[in-house]
Amino acid sequence: MSRRPTIGILTGGGDCPGLNAVIRAATKSAVRLGYDCVGFLRGYEGLVDPVSYMPLDAHITAGILLQGGTILGSTNKGRFTSLVGEGERVGIDPELLARAAATVKQMGIAGLICVGGDGSLGIAQQLHEHGIPVVGVPKTIDNDLGCTAFTFGFDSAVATATDALDRLHTTAASHERVMVLEVMGRHAGWIALHAGIAGGGDVILLPEIAWTFENVCRTVTHRDREGKRYTLIVVAEGAHLPDGGLVHAGESGGRGQVKLGGIGEIVAREVAGRLGREVRTVVLGHLQRGGPPTAFDRVLATEFGAHAARLVHEGRFGEMVCYRPPDIASVPIAHAIGRLSTVDPRGSAVQAARALGIGFGDDEDGEPFAGARGSGPLSAS
Ligand code: F6P
Repeated sequence: MSRRPTIGILTGGGDCPGLNAVIRAATKSAVRLGYDCVGFLRGYEGLVDPVSYMPLDAHITAGILLQGGTILGSTNKGRFTSLVGEGERVGIDPELLARAAATVKQMGIAGLICVGGDGSLGIAQQLHEHGIPVVGVPKTIDNDLGCTAFTFGFDSAVATATDALDRLHTTAASHERVMVLEVMGRHAGWIALHAGIAGGGDVILLPEIAWTFENVCRTVTHRDREGKRYTLIVVAEGAHLPDGGLVHAGESGGRGQVKLGGIGEIVAREVAGRLGREVRTVVLGHLQRGGPPTAFDRVLATEFGAHAARLVHEGRFGEMVCYRPPDIASVPIAHAIGRLSTVDPRGSAVQAARALGIGFGDDEDGEPFAGARGSGPLSAS
């Protein structure tokens, strides 16, 4: 048995680019602070029967900075869960909590770094309340976690979606087609908004802005009249239909949480039917979650991992690292969870897009600079 104190690391929930960069940074900096490290396998499941973990050190983590996924594996919606249905919070089985606490005690874990999104950090908070020394690291491609300006993984997902739009541009222009790109993001439109702007989309449909098919078709027709006989529509998987409904492809993991997807095809069918135009749909899906992280995500994940090790060293348990530009800081995990961070329809990115004539499918489409009425500067919110 090691004589140095040990830090445990685990990755929970859906994977995303940058997880390995966090594992590497947390390990390397923890070792320099005087700790040994172990990684629990398959998320929180590794804490309970069968307890499964692997040693982590500078050799094992060498070269993983640029690898997608997580070398520790992850479990989404396993035995540990803090969310069911549409975000309802549930308590973890006390028996499981007790078993996890026993593992942490028996292995002499001085601090457990839990890397995850809202659901996984909700579990971390419950472990913390149960006396387990936990530190959180926010992760999700959706960028929908409270208390941090960005989560790592988001920039990489946006880069993938932007690359897809770049490619759709040339084929859409060649065939004078309308192309619909459906992107992930669950109930937040961050990926759609940022990729839509970066990839030169013409219409962006978000969960945060109510839209109609009439307005979407109006933008397509307007572009035709201007001689731009192709249109790129970016739609977030969680954008509500004009009647308010969400489009989903069944339940995910049998816990009442819906698996979103399918809205792209509905938009395509409707636009094709109304305008008699050729429309094609691409659903980007898990391509957005795979592959190497961007340079931005590598830096953010590295800063998060190093800061998490430092929080353990300082005994600041129950805290989550966060990005408050230009600083990496921390907040109580309890403050960050359960607060969906969504796109502000009056925010600067939406305003800039509108200023360029990008449509959001609402009545402000086509109005010159509709988002910035008045004489004040652009809102920074
Ligand atoms: O939260 C990340 C995310 O990729 C969402 O954007 C998407 O709706 C969901 O996970 C997909 O989850 P799963 O991999 O379980 O289908």
